[in-house]
Order: sequence, then structure tokens, then C-alpha cells
Amino acid sequence: MLFRKNKTLLGLNIGSGYIKMVELKDSGSVHTLNNFGIAALPADAIVDGTIMDSAAIVNAIVNLAANLKIKKKRISTSISGHSVIVKKITLPLMDENTIEETIQQEATQHIPYDINDVNLDFQILGSNQDNPDNMDIVLVAVKKETINDYLLLVEEAGFVPVVVDVDTFALENSYEYNYEGEDKTVIALIDIGANLTCINILHDGVTCFSRNITSGSRLITEQLQKKFSLNYENAELLKMGCLESKKTDGSTAFSAIKEAAFSIVNEISKAIDFFHTSSMTESRVEKIILSGGGAKTPNITQLIAKSTGIETEIINPFRNIIIPEKNFDLDYIRDIAPLAAVATGLALRKDEAVRR
Ligand SMILES: Nc1ncnc2c1ncn2[C@@H]1O[C@H](COP(=O)(O)OP(=O)(O)OP(=O)(O)O)[C@@H](O)[C@H]1O
Ligand SMILES: [Mg+2]
Repeated sequence: MLFRKNKTLLGLNIGSGYIKMVELKDSGSVHTLNNFGIAALPADAIVDGTIMDSAAIVNAIVNLAANLKIKKKRISTSISGHSVIVKKITLPLMDENTIEETIQQEATQHIPYDINDVNLDFQILGSNQDNPDNMDIVLVAVKKETINDYLLLVEEAGFVPVVVDVDTFALENSYEYNYEGEDKTVIALIDIGANLTCINILHDGVTCFSRNITSGSRLITEQLQKKFSLNYENAELLKMGCLESKKTDGSTAFSAIKEAAFSIVNEISKAIDFFHTSSMTESRVEKIILSGGGAKTPNITQLIAKSTGIETEIINPFRNIIIPEKNFDLDYIRDIAPLAAVATGLALRKDEAVRR
């Protein structure tokens, strides 16, 4: 009997706060959710995108996979933070062969690392709107050392890394799959993670601006720790509205959360303003799509919409994915969905690599 091999990869998003795993089933025209889970990491396991406690991370991956009864070994994972540089550059029109060489030289000006220390990739976007003799290119550089660290980690956990992506592109992939046919031209994908907020502005589906803000939802946790003298774990629970304690009544906690959230909102607003004032094309962001655990901060959607004046909503990474009701608690999935956006984009990557 002939049967189609289910050639999907396990999407593994190693965030600095939480590990997320998404497994999909590809039935040709549709994808179905097969497995999904998250696990918290100790507070200092990953600092500023650098792996500090690989044993703790390996442990968390192994345990999560065991709890979810994951059989798949071939995975796609991603990297984010300061090891990743995404830049849009403009070059004179030239043929394919010259591009590679020119990109190498150009990159030295745009990338703050030794060019020998990074893996360089690029995508030609097309001719420049203002000058048809020029073309726009997206340049991507990822530090080799970081890629190696992640590869080692994943292999140590017993998996085969097939795809090593960048968080931003995985998120873009997830958005594209789920929001096909969306009529807006310029949208901002904003991922508020535990320690990092990534802004990626897409014009007709391609990155035209990207910026990282080096703080995220952990900032709110830290403020709560200080204000109510709590340890990290309890402050996390308080932020999620799950801490019963005499020290903190609901309204003081809420105003402390709001105060801390304000600084993230401000940074987001500033970055979008910067895009609007510096953009050569006069394009304006028509919609903001939030993802990451920080999108679950009470009122954050309204705060961002108010501060930027732009329609804001939270991503649903399972919008076009079937979730079998008999296997999943739909309320839970709906609740946790924004955290799954990157992992879903990774799980949608095809297993096209040659089998080892
Ligand atoms: N229900 C909730 N309410 C408020 N905050 C939440 C909730 N659930 C998760 N968070 C916060 O979201 C953050 C984790 O989000 P996410 O998993 O997207 O980050 P990460 O990918 O681990 O981090 P990074 O991308 O910065 O490395 C944590 O700071 C957590 O406290
Ligand atoms: Mg993340």
C-alpha cells in the first residue's frame, strides 16, 4: 500500500522564558494540530540570547517531549536576539554572480561582527521604488557561535536539527499561513517575549523595517518582585493573576503591571514613530499584530492601540489550523495561543533536507 509520509518537523521554540513545542499533521491542503506544549525555564538559563545553563534547557526539552509523548526526532528551531541581524539595504542593480561578492563587502558596513563569524544570507526584494536602477535586499546575519550552541543543545536533548531559522521569519511564516488574503499592505508583527520585543514591519509581506527592544514581559515581573518583595516565580504568578497573597491586592497589582507595561508600550510607539518619520515610501503601519507571552499582559492591546493610534490585535497562530476537539482543551489553546506563534511557524517548515 502506498501512503504519504507525514514529512513535518517538530517546531521547537527555545525562548528565554518558555520552551514551546508544536507538532502539526500535514494532510496536503490542511494542517491539523497534533501536539502542543510549553515548559518554563529557570530565570537565568538564557541571558541576552546566550545559553547560560544548557543542562537546565536540555532537561526542560527532554521532559516536555516526554510529557507530550513526542516521537518525532527531526525538528526545526530558531534563534533570536543580538546574534541575529536583519537589515534592509539598497544596491545598484547587478547580476546574480556579482551580488554574492558585493553582499560580502556591503555586510561589513552593516553588521557589527567580524564577517567570518557570521552566516550570511540575503533575499532580493526587487527594484527600489524611488530609483529603478537600484534594488532592495534583505540581509540576514547570524553568529556562527550561537548557531552552534543551539545545535549542540538540541542534539544533546536527542533531536535532529533540520532547520535553524530566525524567530522573526518563523513568526512571519505563521502569520502568512494564518492570515492569507488579509487586505492590509503595511502591518507590524510585534512579538513581546520574556526578555525581548521584536518589531518586524512588513510591506506587502516583506520585511521593510525590523528592530529589537531589549526588554520584554520579564520587566513587568521584575517590577512586581521589587514592589511586593516577591521571588521570581511568585511575581510571575501574580502577573498572570494566579497568586493568592495578603501582600498584593488585585488593584495595586494591576496598577503596578500597567506602570511597567507602559515602558514597553512607549518603546514600541517610539520605534513605530521612527519608522514613520524615516520611511522613504511614506508607508504607514495599518495594523499591529501582537504575539508572545507579553501579548497576554492585561490591557496591552488597548494601551498599544491608544499610544500608536493603530488598530492592534493579538495573533491567532491556529486560525487556519484544525484543532481536534477530542484531543485538546480549546479554552486552554485559545488562552496560550500567542505564545505558540513562533513554534507554529517553525512546525510549518517543510522537512526537505536530505535524511542523514
Ligand atoms: N497569562 C499571562 N499573563 C501575563 N503574562 C504572561 C502570561 N503568560 C505568559 N506571560 C509572560 O510571557 C512571557 C513569556 O512569553 P514568551 O514565551 O513569548 O517569551 P519567550 O519566547 O520565552 O522569551 P524571548 O522571546 O524574549 O526569549 C513571560 O514573561 C510570561 O510571564
Ligand atoms: Mg520568544
